[in-house]
Amino acid sequence: MSLKGKHLLCTQDWSLDELSKILQLAEDMKKERWSNKYAQVLDRRTFFMFFYNPSVRTRQSFEAAATELGGHAQFLEPKSMRLKTKKSAGETIEDAARVMSRYACGIGIRILEDKIGAYGEGHKLLSEYAEYADIPIVSMAHDKYHPCQGLADMQGLWQHIGRENVKGKKLLQVWGHGALARSWCSVQESILISSNFGMDVTMAYPEGYDVDPEVIAKTKANCEANGRKFETSHDPQTCYDGADVVYSRNWMHADTYQDGEFQKAKEVERAMKHNNWICDTDKMKRTNNALFTHPMPIDRGHEVSDAVASSDRSIIYDVAENRLHVQKAIMALTMGA
Ligand code: CP
Repeated sequence: MSLKGKHLLCTQDWSLDELSKILQLAEDMKKERWSNKYAQVLDRRTFFMFFYNPSVRTRQSFEAAATELGGHAQFLEPKSMRLKTKKSAGETIEDAARVMSRYACGIGIRILEDKIGAYGEGHKLLSEYAEYADIPIVSMAHDKYHPCQGLADMQGLWQHIGRENVKGKKLLQVWGHGALARSWCSVQESILISSNFGMDVTMAYPEGYDVDPEVIAKTKANCEANGRKFETSHDPQTCYDGADVVYSRNWMHADTYQDGEFQKAKEVERAMKHNNWICDTDKMKRTNNALFTHPMPIDRGHEVSDAVASSDRSIIYDVAENRLHVQKAIMALTMGA
């Protein structure tokens, strides 16, 4: 099975065998991080990274990944590239994608929150690059999905639960209050990949914080295909009952985009009223001694208490580290020599 040249906009677009191949190589690369066998996989190759929004983990882990594979990751700010947008004249995506394909081995793109005017615009942009580029387009988090994060999450579960034991475990994907008005990407990716790998999924959130119905339908279909359950809860306490993995994260209300604008202030005011939606020690006592996970950056004191985030059941730093290993595996298999 060759993954050479494949785009990665969402893990759901790839087969389970393809995802497992990435995860297996990521495990091998983690164990043999400094082995010479991986040192020249991207020899003299450049990976372009467009960051419309800021990042700690994604930028640093992609740069480190390219270095460790013998290549180079180039940081690019789209605002400095004279690209055509809704509001300004400039180069089309088709021209940019065709030219960049002559220079680089792959392109990563991050576009979130305030850099779009409506949900779906980021996904449309990445899909257009994928249509015209002759090299892989990798989502580094866009409004709909965050596939590298989803793979790092799953590698964390393999590590802490065991590859064979993930199936049948219950993931609680729970909303947390806070002032960040986060995009849906990490959460939607998480429920897709977890259900695809055979987990039960419970989504818990205050009334009105529904995510993309198309993603929910796909998650339900994954659960059904695996003989697992998908449940929804609006109770911030009982939703924890029997969970094996708790993933607490803020996400924005669907109304946050209005009239082509990201209405952050209004959303923050609404979200902060739900201050009982925080993952804390008492709620974790209702679980099956669950692991706590989060893609980071964490909004401590809002999404989760310090005690839970720093507890011995928290796997946040392992998952953050896994970003490096899964991205090395993605680059090696889709862009490598
Ligand atoms: N999880 C994640 O993508 O982190 P950054 O926003 O810091 O890249």
